[in-house]
Amino acid sequence: MKDAQVSWPLTVVALSESIDLVKNFTGDIDPRITLVRPEDVEDPGAVTCALAWRPAADAFDPYPNIMMVSSIAAGVDSIMNCPSLPSGAIVTRVRDEDQARMMGAFAAWHVVHHHRQMGDFLENQKAALWDRTFRPEMSCNMTIGLLGFGLMGQHTARAMVAMGYKVVAASRSGGTTLEGVETVSGPDAVTEVARRSDMLINLLPLTDETANVLNADLFAAMPEGAILIQLGRGEHLVEADLIAALDSGHLGGASLDVFRQEPLPADDPLWAHPKILITPHKASDTTRSEVLRQLAENYAALLADETPPGAVDRASGY
Ligand code: GLV
Repeated sequence: MKDAQVSWPLTVVALSESIDLVKNFTGDIDPRITLVRPEDVEDPGAVTCALAWRPAADAFDPYPNIMMVSSIAAGVDSIMNCPSLPSGAIVTRVRDEDQARMMGAFAAWHVVHHHRQMGDFLENQKAALWDRTFRPEMSCNMTIGLLGFGLMGQHTARAMVAMGYKVVAASRSGGTTLEGVETVSGPDAVTEVARRSDMLINLLPLTDETANVLNADLFAAMPEGAILIQLGRGEHLVEADLIAALDSGHLGGASLDVFRQEPLPADDPLWAHPKILITPHKASDTTRSEVLRQLAENYAALLADETPPGAVDRASGY
């Protein structure tokens, strides 16, 4: 045990957008855990754990003894970048196989959308137009590239392999192998995968290293007519570079689920671009029950002086 204050029962403060988790939650919760909103915390010095999602810059300031901060999602970038995050706190993220499968299915939808030109069908339906003439060759003999080969990337790769596509994935460690997936690692892995991708799916975590990785140079490396499916974080994409690559005809289309500014402002040119399909950061979600189950699991590990299973490496940022 790390500290005398760390024990069951546990009071967890739900910060910023994770407050929604406290509101109206009627599912099962470990009876040893009480979730409170910041305004209901009686003794901030006694708070050792927080739930968070996009915390405000000063969100952690009132709590000097925070030991563990749990993201309510798979991503932790907004927590890692929070200036008031205590330097010694363990940060955990959700690792949810169901959420990762959901991500794979979402990516599959976009791949089919672009491969089979579903946008044309949608347009034609508006005009009651029965047009079977413009279908290109329907072969699956194309390469799907994956940036990011963690849990999300692996489930997405499995979905692509099952659909019959060739799959090549940029893997930082190069340690994971999956049947039907070629992995590329090393310093040029991202460019190498992009160079070979008829469709490129981004599932990288956001770190200093990966910010702005989807830029003009990368698009130039992609094959003529290639498609970008952006499911990572808004800060991965240089939006003006994407618009330029689409307008020049070099890229054939894009699906965007995440944006630098969310909600995406109504007057943002991305909304109206004819080659862009937009969804509102809804690629995949975990459940409240799973967030709270993993919170209890991570806290139990902390009590046993073990590394919580959801702990992220603060040096690498994920
Ligand atoms: C969603 O964006 C997540 O990080 O799970």
